[in-house]
Amino acid sequence: MNPHAALPSEGAAPGLGRPCAGGVNPHAALPPGEAATGSSVGAGLPAITSAEIAGKPAPTCVAGCASSSFGAATVGAALAGARGRLPAAEARLLLGHVTGLSHAQLVARAERALTDDEAGRFESLLARRAAGEPVAYLLGEREFYGRPFAVTPAVLIPRPETELLVELALERLRDREAPRILDLGTGSGVLAVTLALERPDAQVVAVERSPEALRVAAANASRLGAAVEFTAGDWFAPIGTVRFDLIVANPPYVGEADAHLGQGDLRFEPRHALAAGPDGLADIRRIAAAAPVHLVPGGGLLLEHGYDQAAAVRTLLAAAGFKAVASWRDLAGIERVSGASLPAGHGGA
Ligand SMILES: C[S@@+](CC[C@H](N)C(=O)[O-])C[C@H]1O[C@@H](n2cnc3c(N)ncnc32)[C@H](O)[C@@H]1O
Repeated sequence: MNPHAALPSEGAAPGLGRPCAGGVNPHAALPPGEAATGSSVGAGLPAITSAEIAGKPAPTCVAGCASSSFGAATVGAALAGARGRLPAAEARLLLGHVTGLSHAQLVARAERALTDDEAGRFESLLARRAAGEPVAYLLGEREFYGRPFAVTPAVLIPRPETELLVELALERLRDREAPRILDLGTGSGVLAVTLALERPDAQVVAVERSPEALRVAAANASRLGAAVEFTAGDWFAPIGTVRFDLIVANPPYVGEADAHLGQGDLRFEPRHALAAGPDGLADIRRIAAAAPVHLVPGGGLLLEHGYDQAAAVRTLLAAAGFKAVASWRDLAGIERVSGASLPAGHGGA
C-alpha cells in the first residue's frame, strides 16, 4: 500500500466524490469542509507561484484594512471573523498560507497582529473560497503520494484516487530494470514525477497538449528533482516509434453533458482536462486503440476512468488486442483503474 497518506480534496458538489445515491464524481473530490494539504511548500516555486497561482490579485488594502474588513487585527480575530463563512480547518489553512504560520502557531499565537497586507489577502481568499474556488488553487498546491505539487487553474487538481494508478504501475514494473514509462496527459505532472522519483532508474516521458499545464508539470519536476522528459502534443503524436514498458494515463473521462461539470471543484478546473465526448470515453478509445504500437511485447497499459466505465474500458482494451485485462478498485471500492498487457508475441503492428 501507499505509505504516504493521501490528503483529501475539497469543495465537491453535492453527490460527488464517493459512492452515493446519484453516482460518483468522475474526477472525484471529498465533501466540503475537508482539509487540503497543510503544508505551504508552493511558496518556493518559480514563476508560477504568486500572481498566476492566485489567479486574482489581493484587493488593495486601504488605510486601516487590517481592522476594518472584519475586525481581523489579530490571528484570533481573523479566524473568529471567518466563522460561519468557512469550516474552521479551511480558514486556518488559508490564514496559515497568508501568514506562513503553522497550524500550531495559529492556535498558540491568537494575539499575533496581522499586517494590513495579510488581512487583505486573507479576506480575499476567504471570499474566493466562499464562492467555491478549490482550496488547492487558492493555496497553489496539492499533495500527491506524499509530495507537494504546485497546481494552477491550468491543471486538474490531483486526486487521491490517482495514487492507485501509481501503486499499480510500481507493482507492474517491480521486476523490470530501467523501464521506459510514458505518462499521457500529464497535467501537473503527478504521475510522471512520482514514478520518476519512485523509480529513479526509469526513463519517463510525459505528454501534454496544454502548454500552460506543461509548464506547471516541468516546474514540479524541477523542484522535486525528477528526471522527466516533457513533450507537447496530442496523445501519441509526439512519441514517434519509441516503445515503452508501461503507459499510464488519467485522461479526461467525463461526458460532455455531465451535470457534474457545473458543480463543485469541476467548475473551476480546465474543461480540456475533464470532458471527453458524449460518453466520456472519446480519449480512452483513442489511447486504447493506439497504445499497442507504442508498447514492447509484454508491456502494460493502465488507465484511470470514471466510476461506471470499467466494463466499457475492459471491452476497449480487449478489442485493441490486449490480454490479462482487469480493473482495480480504489479505496472507496470503485473500479477506478483498468489495465492490460500486450501479448508477449504481439508486435503491436
Ligand atoms: C484528467 S487530467 C489528468 C492530469 C494528471 N495526469 C493527473 O492525474 O492529475 C487529463 C490531462 O490530459 C490532457 N489532455 C487532454 N487531451 C489531450 C490530448 N489529446 N493530448 C494530450 N494531453 C491531453 C489535459 O490537458 C489534462 O492535463
